[in-house]
Amino acid sequence: MAKKREISADRPYVLKGKLIGLKTLRKEDADIATPMFQNMELITYLSTRRRPETVESEAAFFDRVLKNEEGEIHFGIFELKGDRYVGGVSLMHINPNNHATLGVAINDPACWNKGYGTEAVRLMVEYGMFFMNLHNIRLGFFGYNARARRAYEKAGFKEVGRFRGTVMLAGKRYDDVWMDITRDEVDLARMWKMVPMIEMK
Ligand SMILES: CC(C)(COP(=O)(O)OP(=O)(O)OC[C@H]1O[C@@H](n2cnc3c(N)ncnc32)[C@H](O)[C@@H]1OP(=O)(O)O)[C@@H](O)C(=O)NCCC(=O)NCCS
Repeated sequence: MAKKREISADRPYVLKGKLIGLKTLRKEDADIATPMFQNMELITYLSTRRRPETVESEAAFFDRVLKNEEGEIHFGIFELKGDRYVGGVSLMHINPNNHATLGVAINDPACWNKGYGTEAVRLMVEYGMFFMNLHNIRLGFFGYNARARRAYEKAGFKEVGRFRGTVMLAGKRYDDVWMDITRDEVDLARMWKMVPMIEMK
């Protein structure tokens, strides 16, 4: 009997955790992402634009991301069980002084609080520190996003400061909170295993 073809063998995982893995994005992922970006709770955590994405606006985001240009890198987050696209994680504003800004979204609310976000952040931080030689990775979240704060703390980030009252929702002001992590705070053993021929110094 012919061996069953591995699911998505044509798009392998670049990085794998225990629950999720990271893969490069494809144009057709936009078709899955756009319906997810009709959810105003998700949108309220991600931007102050507070408007759902259209097929065209999401396609424009993917068009930009898929150019794979210097200065930023984007991965899709896939649930290992079922090999299903559930969100995205990015490093942006990659800087000659070896720092960058991380962004993450688990787009399907049914997948929140399952550890996926923490794992995706950890994998992206390790990737950035190891393969891109980053020294410092920063990220920001809106003061009303307690889940994000907890996930980032679990991934090793520490608060460095906040822009007070610069985010508004329903006429109420919240802080824009920033955290960071440095290379000495990150265990890179998992990345070394990805380059087995190279000796760890
Ligand atoms: C923020 C996000 C990336 C976190 O990923 P996740 O997979 O849901 O998070 P995790 O399961 O890894 O961790 C969430 C933690 O927050 C806790 N949590 C959930 N709601 C909480 C709340 N209201 N207050 C405090 N902690 C909360 C969970 O219990 C869990 O902690 P625990 O493991 O100690 O129990 C994800 O929820 C998401 O994408 N949300 C929508 C978009 C978004 O907010 N993106 C980030 C913008 S900065």
